[in-house]
Amino acid sequence: MYIAFEGIDNCGKSTQIKLLYNYFKNNTELKVGKIKEPSNSSIGKFILEFLKSDEALSDTNKEITSLLFSADRLTQKSKILRYKNNPDNLLISDRSYISSICYQSNNHINTSWIEQLNKYIPQPDLTLLLRIPVDMSIQRSSQDTAYETRKQLKRIQNNYLHYAMNHNHTYIVNGAQARKTIHKNIKKIIKKYTQNEYNNGGMIRQ
Ligand SMILES: Nc1ncnc2c1ncn2[C@@H]1O[C@H](COP(=O)(O)OP(=O)(O)OP(=O)(O)O)[C@@H](O)[C@H]1O
Ligand SMILES: [Mg+2]
Repeated sequence: MYIAFEGIDNCGKSTQIKLLYNYFKNNTELKVGKIKEPSNSSIGKFILEFLKSDEALSDTNKEITSLLFSADRLTQKSKILRYKNNPDNLLISDRSYISSICYQSNNHINTSWIEQLNKYIPQPDLTLLLRIPVDMSIQRSSQDTAYETRKQLKRIQNNYLHYAMNHNHTYIVNGAQARKTIHKNIKKIIKKYTQNEYNNGGMIRQ
């Protein structure tokens, strides 16, 4: 099984992934893995450098950013396939191609082009969208100037909500609650999903 965490900056993805990863590692026999985007590959490292530069802000370079992210995703494809659709394996991902759709589509770049670029990327079995207000994202930011401005964050948040409305197996989780409450809610969603999908009467196969 392949689960992706999604949501705007500082919504709590890393925090919840750590809790969930430890929970499954310590309480189940599942083979549990983690991936993140950008990855640790040379393309992933290049993306992080590229995004820091002013160059990344021009329209042409935004197209390049989309291409780089889809190339980086392909570096993780074989690992994803080893876990996906397998109830004995669990892969937890910090972001997925859905981030590309929600962050990179704008007036200049359309969603269908990004979908095309990611056509050969396996899709998550289950997506957990952590939702927090944009103001909370800015308050939680450790940086003085957030990379994404308030206006951009609002656009990205709207794209996420629109995506969730239109796709199956995408759940919106209230990320503005206490860490433990969110963790419990996430476990409930996974339990319900696995009961329906794998009909095994419990939290994946334990
Ligand atoms: N439920 C919560 N309540 C209060 N603070 C939280 C909660 N969850 C996370 N935080 C804090 O908010 C900040 C951002 O959390 P975290 O790094 O998990 O978010 P993220 O979605 O991974 O961010 P990024 O998109 O930058 O990777 C951290 O300082 C974290 O401790
Ligand atoms: Mg994070």
